[in-house]
Amino acid sequence: MYRERITAIEMEIREFHGQDSSGHDWQHIERVRSMALHLQKAEGGDPFIIEATALLHDLDDWKLGKEENEELHRTKKLLTRLQVESSLINQLCEIIKTISFKGAGEKSQCPNIEAEIVQDADRLDAIGAIGIARAFAFGGNRNRALYIPEQKANYHASFEEYKKDEGHTIKHFYEKLLLLKDRMNTPTAKKIAQERHAFMEVFLEQFFEEWKIKS
Ligand code: ADP
Ligand code: NI
Repeated sequence: MYRERITAIEMEIREFHGQDSSGHDWQHIERVRSMALHLQKAEGGDPFIIEATALLHDLDDWKLGKEENEELHRTKKLLTRLQVESSLINQLCEIIKTISFKGAGEKSQCPNIEAEIVQDADRLDAIGAIGIARAFAFGGNRNRALYIPEQKANYHASFEEYKKDEGHTIKHFYEKLLLLKDRMNTPTAKKIAQERHAFMEVFLEQFFEEWKIKS
């Protein structure tokens, strides 16, 4: 039952994320799943809940759909079609809702260890070398500039403010990516985040150094 359900969810998710070019492709989902299961080995939590929510976590993400999706319509529809019990659907949705980053000033409260782990795994994929690559992929997908020196970073106090910002990609490092290491939930993720964070600092230092050279 466990494996069959995961396989069925996986097949649908592969299809959904297949064409994405904004850093939310199937490989992102697959890395989040692997990292979440890796964290589970050290931190505990229910492996089915962790694997299922890792697979489903971006299906209704606001960045990927035009329609209002805070109610997780796609996720509920998929799980209902797979005949998952409604109490389990609610449990999975409760976790998925808390995972996404909603701006520097919006502190998300994870309801359980499963949510903490999947949020950590998702956030680890937003930092380090892969995180850098994903940020510029997202920026390109949305026609955003790499860097505009005059445009300073904002501390977004609310999700609404965060959502409507369409600034350059370097700004996003200061508004989200560099904040993540101090917002990891589990000790195992905190450790992995240190190294990835340090790499982003080196990257930014080099980026600004190269930007300065005019002739
Ligand atoms: P979350 O749900 O926490 O936002 P996701 O898995 O949906 O996490 O992916 C978020 C990723 O999308 C970021 O880490 C980054 O790569 C990209 N992204 C989102 N907003 C921006 C932005 N304004 N500029 C550049 N990249 C962005
Ligand atoms: Ni994600």
